[in-house]
Amino acid sequence: MKVEAVQKPKYAAALITGASSGLGAAFVRLLDETLPDDVALWLLARNEEKLKTFAAGLKHQTRVLALDLRDEASCKRIGDALREQGASVQLLINNAGEGREGRFEELDASSCRSLCDLNVRSQVAVTSAVLPFMEAGSAIVFVASVAAFLPQPGFAAYAATKAFILSFGRALAEELRRREIHVTVTCPNPMLTDFFTHEEKEKLLASYKRWGIENPDTVAAKTLGAVRRRKVVVVTPLSGRLVRVLSKVVPVKWMTRLLGMVLV
Ligand SMILES: NC(=O)c1ccc[n+]([C@@H]2O[C@H](COP(=O)([O-])OP(=O)(O)OC[C@H]3O[C@@H](n4cnc5c(N)ncnc54)[C@H](OP(=O)(O)O)[C@@H]3O)[C@@H](O)[C@H]2O)c1
Repeated sequence: MKVEAVQKPKYAAALITGASSGLGAAFVRLLDETLPDDVALWLLARNEEKLKTFAAGLKHQTRVLALDLRDEASCKRIGDALREQGASVQLLINNAGEGREGRFEELDASSCRSLCDLNVRSQVAVTSAVLPFMEAGSAIVFVASVAAFLPQPGFAAYAATKAFILSFGRALAEELRRREIHVTVTCPNPMLTDFFTHEEKEKLLASYKRWGIENPDTVAAKTLGAVRRRKVVVVTPLSGRLVRVLSKVVPVKWMTRLLGMVLV
């Protein structure tokens, strides 16, 4: 009698970084409503208690990864956890990020370094750690910002990290096309999340930028819609699309001078 080897179904996962609040939590809530039941949600952020409380209210099977992505060891731990589980990652959302507003020379050097570590190095490292566990048909999301399209006096290092992510994501989209792994870079406007301190929120609401404020749930929905349509770059607000066009037609020097007058 011939015994057929029984193929064990792969454990499927969606991994979301910065899942405990703001846009990351909005992605998780939407995925909890829309993903097939057998896909587990892997939620990553530093605050374990917050993640566990959030996970307890979700319908899907979840796994909490309480890690600081600025630590080099964190990415190894992600890879080890995926390997132990025999997981196939269907969706990776590189969302964790932070911002530092103010004139660069007045900002604390270590906080600027932390920003670059989280917004740039960790996104590259997480992607390297997770890619071996991705198969054809899976997708990666990078959360950039409308700030990625132009240098921003008053938000210089932050805007530069997002320009890096936009460029990295676009290039990766092309490289991974042959493996049929799709990449989407999403570029939202400001959202009133924990990204901003109370004072920064007040300042934002008193500035012209208030007209462009977006809702994280809407940004998450537009981004996942773009993933389904296999769009590489999605600019979620209408005003952001205008900024993108201007950044292509008006010399960067003029635009930067103008932003310097308005923002600093
Ligand atoms: N809010 C905006 O106006 C805006 C606009 C455009 C783009 N974005 C981008 O959107 C993304 C999400 O921002 P958000 O507005 O949702 O901010 P948020 O509410 O502050 O959420 C940030 C998330 O990242 C996690 N996180 C922070 N530092 C971390 C670290 N070192 N290691 C692991 N996780 C860390 C936080 O949890 P823990 O603190 O527990 O770690 C939290 O879950 C960011 O990439 C941001 O640049 C935001």
